[in-house]
Amino acid sequence: MMHLGQEPVMKVAEPLGERYCARLVALPPALNTGNALIDDEHRQLLAVMQQLRTVCADPERLADCLGCAGARRQACEHAVVGILGDLFAFILEHFASEERIMRDAMMAVTEHDLCAAHIEDHAAIAQKVQEIVSRLDFAHTVARIRELDGLLGRWLDNHIGMHDLILVGWLGKGSQPPPDAR
Ligand SMILES: [Fe+2]
Ligand SMILES: [Fe+2]
Repeated sequence: MMHLGQEPVMKVAEPLGERYCARLVALPPALNTGNALIDDEHRQLLAVMQQLRTVCADPERLADCLGCAGARRQACEHAVVGILGDLFAFILEHFASEERIMRDAMMAVTEHDLCAAHIEDHAAIAQKVQEIVSRLDFAHTVARIRELDGLLGRWLDNHIGMHDLILVGWLGKGSQPPPDAR
């Protein structure tokens, strides 16, 4: 079906994005670290995911953007490029915040391996975002949206649970990481 103007690309059986957006309402309680700055920045990440999910009419099912009118494809690509610019700036700022907290708390001195793994994962996430940006093209914006959504989802589910919670837990316990973190 050809897509005209800014209307949805295709009619879908269920309300648009309902399932896709279901878990973006709030930061899951299990991912609340208790550190106000870090949690606030994670909520900003959720907001970026939410924004990304509203760009395409059916990001779950469209294989590519070739069924959409040229104006719509351009609008989607423009929107994603803008979100990616904000996302990349946010990523750098957020990772710098956490790494500054580690340094200020001297965590790297006593927990070198934990900090190194955390910082390494930050670098891997940033690199993956850059890879996705480098493969942007107006005919496959929807595929990049899916990749980014998956990456950001894994960041939320895995990175925060595996690294950020340990960082804040360590700070709260006065330099003692959780027993299962070793
Ligand atoms: Fe982190
Ligand atoms: Fe984080």
